[in-house]
Amino acid sequence: MAERIPFIAGNWKMNLDHLQAIAFVQKLAWTLKDARHDYGVTEVAVFPPFTDLRSVQTLISGDKIELGFGAQDVSAHPNGAYTGEISAEFLKALDVQYVIVGHSERRQYHHEGDEHIAEKVANAIKNGLVPVICVGETAEDLELYGPSAVPVQQLHGALALAGGATNIVVAYEPVWAIGSGQAATPEQAEQVAEQLRYVLGEVLGGEVADATRILYGGSVKSSNIAGFLRQPNVDGALVGGASLDIAEFASIAQFRKHVGT
Ligand code: 13P
Repeated sequence: MAERIPFIAGNWKMNLDHLQAIAFVQKLAWTLKDARHDYGVTEVAVFPPFTDLRSVQTLISGDKIELGFGAQDVSAHPNGAYTGEISAEFLKALDVQYVIVGHSERRQYHHEGDEHIAEKVANAIKNGLVPVICVGETAEDLELYGPSAVPVQQLHGALALAGGATNIVVAYEPVWAIGSGQAATPEQAEQVAEQLRYVLGEVLGGEVADATRILYGGSVKSSNIAGFLRQPNVDGALVGGASLDIAEFASIAQFRKHVGT
């Protein structure tokens, strides 16, 4: 079986300007260094707003920091007359490795549907970015269809144009758990992650399914992270609110040290 390196990703959402980002990343790197964090054992990445990316890139490459970084969205189009959009090529030119696609906040507030998301995923892959594909059910979906039906359908949709992809990340983020303080249980996350891995196998083949990291997201904290990472199909976390607190995020990245793990 492929070894999947755990991945702790911090989605800053629309928080921290580029000056704040520089101070934050510097302090985060020091904190992880003090804790003797081994990035080869647990990968850590931040996802700042677009306007921070150049500053974060300069800092990370200048100071040889091992933190990864990604963007929070990408255009479905290569370039052209799309006011306000950011091209995958531009991101690649800034050494961006990852891009979040299909976050529930984009699905909800910007009406992004499965087809649009599939185009973004395909465009990211084509430009050498690793898409972090977000899927998750609302509280209403959960009541109507159970836990995995909507995430499974969304993953099928997101991968519709991604045949042959070998390097993607999937994030299961139940909408009801995002920012609510009410995380899913590790068992709930595992149940859905197992179904998502099955979909990956159907669409991309067993080997890719086996190697793909599936993250859990939704009210992750240092006090609950270890339970998620103990599940066989959960390989990390996409952290929102808690990723804005340096000590807390570093502690999540250090989940192996937590009592009882
Ligand atoms: P919270 O960790 O704040 O619940 O947010 C999760 C999320 O949406 C990460 O993308």
